[in-house]
Amino acid sequence: MEKIVKIVDGVYYVGVNDRDTHLFENIWPLPKGVSYNSYLLVDERTALVDTVKLCKLSPYLEKIGQVLNGRQLDYLVVNHMEPDHSGALAAIVQAYPGVKIVGNKKTVDFIRAMYQVEANFYEVEDGDELDLGQRKLKFYLTPMVHWPETMMTYETTAGIIFSGDAFGGFGSLDGGVFDDEVDVTYYEHEIRRYYSNIVGKFGPMVQKALQKLSALEIRVVCPTHGPVWRTNPGRIISSYDRWSRYVYDEGVVIAYGTMYGSTEKMADFIARVLADEGIRNVRVMNTSAVHESFIINEIWRFKGVIFGSCTYNNWIYPPLENVIINLAHKGLPNRVFGVFGSYGWSGGGVKGILEYLKKNNWQLVGEPVEVQFSAKAADFERLRKLALEMARAVKS
Ligand SMILES: Cc1cc2nc3c(=O)[nH]c(=O)nc-3n(C[C@H](O)[C@H](O)[C@H](O)COP(=O)(O)O)c2cc1C
Ligand SMILES: [Fe+2]
Ligand SMILES: [Fe+2]
Repeated sequence: MEKIVKIVDGVYYVGVNDRDTHLFENIWPLPKGVSYNSYLLVDERTALVDTVKLCKLSPYLEKIGQVLNGRQLDYLVVNHMEPDHSGALAAIVQAYPGVKIVGNKKTVDFIRAMYQVEANFYEVEDGDELDLGQRKLKFYLTPMVHWPETMMTYETTAGIIFSGDAFGGFGSLDGGVFDDEVDVTYYEHEIRRYYSNIVGKFGPMVQKALQKLSALEIRVVCPTHGPVWRTNPGRIISSYDRWSRYVYDEGVVIAYGTMYGSTEKMADFIARVLADEGIRNVRVMNTSAVHESFIINEIWRFKGVIFGSCTYNNWIYPPLENVIINLAHKGLPNRVFGVFGSYGWSGGGVKGILEYLKKNNWQLVGEPVEVQFSAKAADFERLRKLALEMARAVKS
Protein backbone atom coordinates (compact mmCIF):
# COMPACT_ATOMS: atom_id res chain seq x y z
CA MET A 1 0.00 0.00 0.00
CA GLU A 2 1.29 3.41 -0.93
CA LYS A 3 2.58 5.51 1.95
CA ILE A 4 0.38 8.56 2.47
CA VAL A 5 2.31 11.83 2.77
CA LYS A 6 1.40 14.06 5.69
CA ILE A 7 1.46 17.84 5.18
CA VAL A 8 1.05 18.49 8.93
CA ASP A 9 -0.74 16.40 11.57
CA GLY A 10 -4.25 15.72 10.32
CA VAL A 11 -3.64 17.10 6.81
CA TYR A 12 -2.73 14.59 4.11
CA TYR A 13 -1.64 14.68 0.49
CA VAL A 14 -3.98 12.48 -1.53
CA GLY A 15 -3.08 13.73 -5.02
CA VAL A 16 -2.04 11.57 -7.95
CA ASN A 17 0.49 11.65 -10.77
CA ASP A 18 -0.47 11.54 -14.43
CA ARG A 19 2.30 10.32 -16.71
CA ASP A 20 -0.12 9.01 -19.36
CA THR A 21 -1.69 12.21 -20.63
CA HIS A 22 0.57 13.72 -23.30
CA LEU A 23 -1.23 17.03 -23.68
CA PHE A 24 -2.67 19.09 -20.83
CA GLU A 25 -5.97 20.72 -21.92
CA ASN A 26 -5.25 18.77 -25.10
CA ILE A 27 -2.73 21.47 -26.10
CA TRP A 28 0.22 21.72 -23.72
CA PRO A 29 2.86 18.95 -23.91
CA LEU A 30 3.66 17.14 -20.67
CA PRO A 31 7.17 15.71 -21.16
CA LYS A 32 7.59 15.50 -17.38
CA GLY A 33 4.01 14.52 -16.59
CA VAL A 34 1.77 16.42 -14.19
CA SER A 35 0.31 15.91 -10.73
CA TYR A 36 -3.25 16.65 -9.68
CA ASN A 37 -2.95 17.55 -6.02
CA SER A 38 -5.75 17.01 -3.54
CA TYR A 39 -5.62 17.31 0.23
CA LEU A 40 -7.60 15.64 2.99
CA LEU A 41 -8.11 17.18 6.45
CA VAL A 42 -9.05 14.80 9.23
CA ASP A 43 -10.43 16.61 12.26
CA GLU A 44 -13.69 16.38 14.24
CA ARG A 45 -15.10 16.76 10.76
CA THR A 46 -13.30 15.69 7.59
CA ALA A 47 -12.73 17.82 4.49
CA LEU A 48 -11.30 17.07 1.08
CA VAL A 49 -9.83 20.01 -0.83
CA ASP A 50 -10.23 19.67 -4.62
CA THR A 51 -10.23 16.39 -6.52
CA VAL A 52 -8.33 15.04 -9.55
CA LYS A 53 -8.84 14.35 -13.24
CA LEU A 54 -11.27 11.50 -13.82
CA CYS A 55 -8.67 9.28 -15.52
CA LYS A 56 -6.94 8.84 -12.14
CA LEU A 57 -10.07 8.07 -10.13
CA SER A 58 -9.19 4.64 -8.89
CA PRO A 59 -5.81 5.35 -7.20
CA TYR A 60 -7.38 8.52 -5.84
CA LEU A 61 -10.35 6.83 -4.16
CA GLU A 62 -7.97 4.26 -2.74
CA LYS A 63 -5.87 6.94 -1.05
CA ILE A 64 -8.89 8.71 0.39
CA GLY A 65 -10.27 5.44 1.75
CA GLN A 66 -6.92 4.67 3.34
CA VAL A 67 -6.81 8.02 5.17
CA LEU A 68 -10.48 8.07 6.19
CA ASN A 69 -10.21 4.50 7.42
CA GLY A 70 -13.97 4.01 7.60
CA ARG A 71 -14.88 7.57 8.58
CA GLN A 72 -17.34 9.66 6.61
CA LEU A 73 -16.29 12.54 4.38
CA ASP A 74 -18.11 15.64 5.63
CA TYR A 75 -16.99 18.34 3.18
CA LEU A 76 -15.59 18.61 -0.30
CA VAL A 77 -14.11 22.06 -0.88
CA VAL A 78 -14.11 22.99 -4.57
CA ASN A 79 -11.59 25.76 -5.20
CA HIS A 80 -11.66 25.41 -8.99
CA MET A 81 -13.99 23.69 -11.43
CA GLU A 82 -11.65 22.93 -14.33
CA PRO A 83 -11.98 19.15 -14.86
CA ASP A 84 -8.33 18.46 -14.01
CA HIS A 85 -9.56 19.15 -10.44
CA SER A 86 -13.31 18.61 -10.48
CA GLY A 87 -13.18 15.41 -12.55
CA ALA A 88 -13.73 13.11 -9.58
CA LEU A 89 -16.43 15.27 -7.98
CA ALA A 90 -19.41 13.16 -8.98
CA ALA A 91 -17.61 9.97 -7.94
CA ILE A 92 -16.86 11.46 -4.52
CA VAL A 93 -20.53 12.37 -4.05
CA GLN A 94 -21.46 8.84 -4.99
CA ALA A 95 -18.87 7.27 -2.68
CA TYR A 96 -19.69 9.58 0.25
CA PRO A 97 -23.37 10.48 -0.14
CA GLY A 98 -23.50 12.64 3.01
CA VAL A 99 -20.79 15.00 1.77
CA LYS A 100 -21.47 18.73 1.60
CA ILE A 101 -19.91 20.51 -1.35
CA VAL A 102 -18.30 23.79 -0.34
CA GLY A 103 -18.07 26.47 -3.02
CA ASN A 104 -19.19 29.97 -3.89
CA LYS A 105 -22.29 30.85 -5.89
CA LYS A 106 -20.49 30.48 -9.24
CA THR A 107 -19.05 27.12 -8.20
CA VAL A 108 -22.51 25.77 -7.52
CA ASP A 109 -23.78 27.06 -10.89
CA PHE A 110 -20.81 25.44 -12.62
CA ILE A 111 -21.29 22.09 -10.83
CA ARG A 112 -24.91 21.94 -11.93
CA ALA A 113 -24.06 22.91 -15.49
CA MET A 114 -21.04 20.63 -15.83
CA TYR A 115 -22.05 17.48 -13.97
CA GLN A 116 -25.80 17.81 -13.31
CA VAL A 117 -24.94 16.86 -9.74
CA GLU A 118 -27.48 17.77 -7.09
CA ALA A 119 -25.81 17.43 -3.72
CA ASN A 120 -25.80 19.24 -0.41
CA PHE A 121 -24.26 22.54 -1.35
CA TYR A 122 -22.62 24.64 1.34
CA GLU A 123 -22.33 28.05 -0.27
CA VAL A 124 -19.64 30.43 0.97
CA GLU A 125 -18.78 34.06 0.36
CA ASP A 126 -15.47 35.85 0.45
CA GLY A 127 -14.05 35.69 4.00
CA ASP A 128 -16.46 33.01 5.30
CA GLU A 129 -15.14 30.40 7.70
CA LEU A 130 -15.82 26.73 8.19
CA ASP A 131 -15.08 25.10 11.55
CA LEU A 132 -13.69 21.56 11.35
CA GLY A 133 -13.08 21.20 15.11
CA GLN A 134 -9.42 21.94 15.83
CA ARG A 135 -8.90 23.60 12.50
CA LYS A 136 -10.76 26.32 10.62
CA LEU A 137 -10.93 26.95 6.92
CA LYS A 138 -11.33 30.45 5.56
CA PHE A 139 -12.31 31.13 1.96
CA TYR A 140 -10.96 33.82 -0.32
CA LEU A 141 -12.51 34.46 -3.72
CA THR A 142 -9.79 34.89 -6.36
CA PRO A 143 -11.71 35.18 -9.64
CA MET A 144 -9.86 34.43 -12.91
CA VAL A 145 -6.95 32.66 -11.24
CA HIS A 146 -7.72 30.78 -13.39
CA TRP A 147 -11.54 30.69 -13.91
CA PRO A 148 -14.32 33.00 -12.66
CA GLU A 149 -15.36 30.71 -9.78
CA THR A 150 -11.81 30.25 -8.49
CA MET A 151 -11.21 30.64 -4.77
CA MET A 152 -8.47 29.76 -2.31
CA THR A 153 -8.88 28.06 1.05
CA TYR A 154 -6.77 29.07 4.05
CA GLU A 155 -6.25 26.79 7.04
CA THR A 156 -5.81 29.16 9.96
CA THR A 157 -3.85 27.08 12.53
CA ALA A 158 -0.91 25.82 10.47
CA GLY A 159 -1.13 28.68 7.96
CA ILE A 160 -1.76 26.50 4.92
CA ILE A 161 -3.07 28.07 1.73
CA PHE A 162 -4.79 25.66 -0.65
CA SER A 163 -4.19 27.85 -3.64
CA GLY A 164 -5.65 26.00 -6.63
CA ASP A 165 -3.75 26.50 -9.89
CA ALA A 166 -1.83 29.47 -8.46
CA PHE A 167 1.78 28.55 -7.59
CA GLY A 168 1.42 25.19 -9.35
CA GLY A 169 2.89 23.78 -12.53
CA PHE A 170 3.65 20.80 -14.72
CA GLY A 171 5.89 17.93 -13.64
CA SER A 172 4.81 14.81 -11.77
CA LEU A 173 5.88 14.45 -8.13
CA ASP A 174 8.45 11.69 -8.37
CA GLY A 175 8.71 10.67 -4.75
CA GLY A 176 9.37 14.13 -3.32
CA VAL A 177 6.31 16.22 -2.55
CA PHE A 178 7.78 19.17 -0.63
CA ASP A 179 10.05 21.94 -1.89
CA ASP A 180 12.79 20.72 0.47
CA GLU A 181 12.61 17.20 -0.97
CA VAL A 182 13.09 18.09 -4.65
CA ASP A 183 15.30 20.14 -6.95
CA VAL A 184 13.16 23.26 -7.03
CA THR A 185 14.72 24.66 -10.21
CA TYR A 186 13.64 21.49 -12.07
CA TYR A 187 10.05 22.41 -11.29
CA GLU A 188 10.31 26.17 -11.60
CA HIS A 189 10.61 26.15 -15.40
CA GLU A 190 7.50 23.99 -15.63
CA ILE A 191 5.64 26.18 -13.13
CA ARG A 192 6.44 29.23 -15.26
CA ARG A 193 5.33 27.35 -18.38
CA TYR A 194 2.01 26.58 -16.66
CA TYR A 195 1.73 30.16 -15.49
CA SER A 196 2.66 31.89 -18.76
CA ASN A 197 0.48 29.70 -20.98
CA ILE A 198 -2.53 29.02 -18.80
CA VAL A 199 -2.87 31.68 -16.12
CA GLY A 200 -0.67 34.41 -17.63
CA LYS A 201 -3.48 36.18 -19.47
CA PHE A 202 -4.90 37.19 -16.08
CA GLY A 203 -1.90 39.02 -14.58
CA PRO A 204 -3.97 41.84 -13.00
CA MET A 205 -6.30 39.28 -11.36
CA VAL A 206 -3.28 37.40 -10.00
CA GLN A 207 -2.04 40.68 -8.56
CA LYS A 208 -5.43 41.19 -6.88
CA ALA A 209 -5.29 37.70 -5.40
CA LEU A 210 -1.73 38.25 -4.12
CA GLN A 211 -2.90 41.46 -2.50
CA LYS A 212 -5.65 39.54 -0.70
CA LEU A 213 -3.18 36.90 0.49
CA SER A 214 -0.67 39.46 1.70
CA ALA A 215 -2.61 39.90 4.95
CA LEU A 216 -2.27 36.18 5.79
CA GLU A 217 0.57 34.40 7.48
CA ILE A 218 1.33 31.72 4.91
CA ARG A 219 3.54 28.90 6.14
CA VAL A 220 2.64 26.23 3.59
CA VAL A 221 1.54 26.64 -0.02
CA CYS A 222 -0.49 23.67 -1.29
CA PRO A 223 -1.23 24.15 -5.01
CA THR A 224 -3.24 21.80 -7.21
CA HIS A 225 -0.17 20.91 -9.32
CA GLY A 226 3.50 20.41 -8.48
CA PRO A 227 5.42 20.63 -5.21
CA VAL A 228 4.09 21.76 -1.83
CA TRP A 229 6.04 24.75 -0.53
CA ARG A 230 6.66 24.44 3.21
CA THR A 231 10.30 25.49 3.59
CA ASN A 232 10.40 28.48 1.29
CA PRO A 233 6.84 29.49 0.37
CA GLY A 234 8.07 33.05 -0.17
CA ARG A 235 10.08 31.89 -3.18
CA ILE A 236 7.10 30.78 -5.26
CA ILE A 237 4.93 33.67 -4.09
CA SER A 238 7.54 36.21 -5.17
CA SER A 239 8.04 34.44 -8.51
CA TYR A 240 4.30 34.69 -9.09
CA ASP A 241 4.41 38.35 -8.21
CA ARG A 242 7.16 38.97 -10.77
CA TRP A 243 5.52 36.97 -13.55
CA SER A 244 2.15 38.66 -13.06
CA ARG A 245 3.79 42.09 -13.15
CA TYR A 246 5.54 41.08 -16.41
CA VAL A 247 9.00 41.70 -14.94
CA TYR A 248 11.79 40.61 -17.31
CA ASP A 249 15.44 39.59 -17.14
CA GLU A 250 18.19 40.48 -19.61
CA GLY A 251 17.95 38.08 -22.51
CA VAL A 252 16.70 37.58 -26.06
CA VAL A 253 14.48 34.92 -27.56
CA ILE A 254 14.89 34.41 -31.31
CA ALA A 255 11.87 32.46 -32.55
CA TYR A 256 12.04 31.55 -36.22
CA GLY A 257 10.24 29.62 -38.92
CA THR A 258 12.20 28.10 -41.76
CA MET A 259 11.61 25.51 -44.48
CA TYR A 260 15.06 25.27 -46.08
CA GLY A 261 17.41 26.97 -43.65
CA SER A 262 17.89 30.51 -44.97
CA THR A 263 15.98 32.08 -42.07
CA GLU A 264 17.71 29.84 -39.55
CA LYS A 265 21.10 30.98 -40.79
CA MET A 266 20.11 34.57 -40.07
CA ALA A 267 18.86 33.58 -36.61
CA ASP A 268 22.18 31.97 -35.74
CA PHE A 269 24.07 35.01 -37.02
CA ILE A 270 22.05 37.37 -34.82
CA ALA A 271 22.52 35.05 -31.83
CA ARG A 272 26.29 35.12 -32.23
CA VAL A 273 26.36 38.94 -32.34
CA LEU A 274 24.22 39.06 -29.19
CA ALA A 275 26.63 36.69 -27.45
CA ASP A 276 29.56 38.88 -28.55
CA GLU A 277 27.75 41.77 -26.91
CA GLY A 278 27.66 39.87 -23.63
CA ILE A 279 24.04 38.71 -23.66
CA ARG A 280 24.24 35.39 -21.84
CA ASN A 281 20.62 34.40 -22.20
CA VAL A 282 19.96 33.89 -25.89
CA ARG A 283 17.42 31.28 -26.94
CA VAL A 284 17.22 30.35 -30.62
CA MET A 285 13.96 28.43 -31.01
CA ASN A 286 12.64 26.65 -34.09
CA THR A 287 8.86 27.09 -34.09
CA SER A 288 8.40 23.91 -36.13
CA ALA A 289 10.28 21.76 -33.63
CA VAL A 290 9.53 23.34 -30.26
CA HIS A 291 6.01 23.62 -28.94
CA GLU A 292 4.85 27.21 -28.59
CA SER A 293 4.33 26.80 -24.84
CA PHE A 294 8.11 26.48 -24.34
CA ILE A 295 8.71 29.54 -26.52
CA ILE A 296 6.12 31.63 -24.68
CA ASN A 297 7.64 30.45 -21.39
CA GLU A 298 11.02 31.91 -22.43
CA ILE A 299 9.48 35.10 -23.78
CA TRP A 300 7.78 35.57 -20.39
CA ARG A 301 11.21 35.61 -18.87
CA PHE A 302 13.23 37.89 -21.13
CA LYS A 303 12.93 41.41 -22.37
CA GLY A 304 13.94 40.94 -26.01
CA VAL A 305 12.17 38.97 -28.72
CA ILE A 306 13.21 38.62 -32.35
CA PHE A 307 10.91 36.90 -34.82
CA GLY A 308 12.26 35.51 -38.07
CA SER A 309 10.03 34.14 -40.79
CA CYS A 310 10.37 32.73 -44.23
CA THR A 311 7.48 33.68 -46.49
CA TYR A 312 4.75 31.15 -47.02
CA ASN A 313 1.76 31.90 -49.25
CA ASN A 314 2.42 35.65 -49.04
CA TRP A 315 2.45 35.56 -45.27
CA ILE A 316 4.17 34.41 -42.07
CA TYR A 317 5.27 30.80 -41.82
CA PRO A 318 2.28 29.10 -40.10
CA PRO A 319 4.03 27.59 -37.04
CA LEU A 320 5.53 30.99 -36.22
CA GLU A 321 2.22 32.74 -36.84
CA ASN A 322 0.66 30.40 -34.32
CA VAL A 323 3.16 31.50 -31.67
CA ILE A 324 2.53 35.16 -32.43
CA ILE A 325 -1.27 34.79 -32.32
CA ASN A 326 -1.13 32.93 -29.02
CA LEU A 327 1.26 35.43 -27.57
CA ALA A 328 -1.08 38.27 -28.57
CA HIS A 329 -3.90 36.51 -26.65
CA LYS A 330 -1.81 36.54 -23.49
CA GLY A 331 -1.45 40.32 -23.63
CA LEU A 332 2.17 40.40 -22.48
CA PRO A 333 2.64 44.17 -22.56
CA ASN A 334 6.20 45.39 -22.36
CA ARG A 335 8.71 43.60 -24.55
CA VAL A 336 11.04 45.00 -27.23
CA PHE A 337 11.13 43.19 -30.55
CA GLY A 338 12.95 42.90 -33.83
CA VAL A 339 11.99 41.24 -37.11
CA PHE A 340 13.80 39.50 -39.95
CA GLY A 341 12.93 37.07 -42.68
CA SER A 342 13.34 35.62 -46.12
CA TYR A 343 11.19 35.53 -49.24
CA GLY A 344 11.34 34.32 -52.83
CA TRP A 345 9.28 36.69 -54.97
CA SER A 346 6.75 39.10 -53.45
CA GLY A 347 7.34 38.65 -49.68
CA GLY A 348 4.89 38.84 -46.79
CA GLY A 349 6.48 37.12 -43.79
CA VAL A 350 8.06 40.20 -42.26
CA LYS A 351 5.04 42.35 -43.13
CA GLY A 352 2.75 39.87 -41.38
CA ILE A 353 4.77 39.90 -38.16
CA LEU A 354 4.79 43.70 -38.08
CA GLU A 355 1.03 43.78 -38.57
CA TYR A 356 0.38 41.51 -35.57
CA LEU A 357 2.80 43.24 -33.27
CA LYS A 358 1.50 46.73 -34.03
CA LYS A 359 -1.46 45.73 -31.85
CA ASN A 360 0.73 44.54 -28.97
CA ASN A 361 2.23 47.91 -28.11
CA TRP A 362 5.65 46.36 -28.13
CA GLN A 363 8.57 48.58 -29.03
CA LEU A 364 10.21 47.86 -32.37
CA VAL A 365 14.00 47.75 -32.21
CA GLY A 366 16.11 48.40 -35.31
CA GLU A 367 15.09 48.05 -38.95
CA PRO A 368 13.31 44.88 -40.07
CA VAL A 369 15.63 42.85 -42.32
CA GLU A 370 14.11 40.90 -45.18
CA VAL A 371 16.25 39.13 -47.78
CA GLN A 372 15.50 37.51 -51.11
CA PHE A 373 16.14 33.77 -50.77
CA SER A 374 19.47 34.01 -48.94
CA ALA A 375 21.32 36.63 -46.91
CA LYS A 376 24.28 38.26 -48.69
CA ALA A 377 27.18 40.22 -47.14
CA ALA A 378 25.19 43.46 -47.05
CA ASP A 379 22.24 41.67 -45.43
CA PHE A 380 24.46 40.29 -42.68
CA GLU A 381 25.59 43.84 -42.01
CA ARG A 382 21.94 44.83 -41.55
CA LEU A 383 21.41 41.83 -39.28
CA ARG A 384 24.44 42.85 -37.22
CA LYS A 385 22.96 46.34 -36.76
CA LEU A 386 19.65 44.83 -35.69
CA ALA A 387 21.41 42.59 -33.17
CA LEU A 388 23.50 45.45 -31.78
CA GLU A 389 20.41 47.57 -31.27
CA MET A 390 18.64 44.67 -29.57
CA ALA A 391 21.63 44.12 -27.26
CA ARG A 392 21.52 47.79 -26.29
CA ALA A 393 17.74 47.71 -25.75
CA VAL A 394 17.76 44.68 -23.44
CA LYS A 395 20.69 45.97 -21.40
CA SER A 396 19.05 49.32 -20.68
C1 LIG B 1 5.63 26.15 -50.09
C2 LIG B 1 6.32 27.48 -50.32
C3 LIG B 1 5.56 28.62 -50.37
C4 LIG B 1 6.18 29.87 -50.58
N1 LIG B 1 5.41 30.98 -50.66
C5 LIG B 1 6.02 32.18 -50.94
C6 LIG B 1 5.24 33.35 -51.12
O1 LIG B 1 4.01 33.33 -51.06
N2 LIG B 1 5.86 34.53 -51.36
C7 LIG B 1 7.23 34.61 -51.45
O2 LIG B 1 7.77 35.71 -51.62
N3 LIG B 1 8.01 33.50 -51.28
C8 LIG B 1 7.43 32.30 -51.04
N4 LIG B 1 8.20 31.18 -50.90
C9 LIG B 1 9.67 31.28 -51.00
C10 LIG B 1 10.36 31.24 -49.64
O3 LIG B 1 9.86 32.22 -48.77
C11 LIG B 1 11.87 31.44 -49.86
O4 LIG B 1 12.38 30.30 -50.57
C12 LIG B 1 12.65 31.62 -48.57
O5 LIG B 1 13.99 31.96 -48.85
C13 LIG B 1 12.63 30.33 -47.72
O6 LIG B 1 13.33 30.58 -46.52
P1 LIG B 1 13.86 29.36 -45.63
O7 LIG B 1 15.07 28.77 -46.30
O8 LIG B 1 14.19 30.00 -44.31
O9 LIG B 1 12.75 28.35 -45.56
C14 LIG B 1 7.59 29.93 -50.72
C15 LIG B 1 8.34 28.75 -50.63
C16 LIG B 1 7.72 27.54 -50.43
C17 LIG B 1 8.58 26.28 -50.39
FE1 LIG C 1 -7.28 25.54 -14.18
FE1 LIG D 1 -5.17 22.98 -12.96
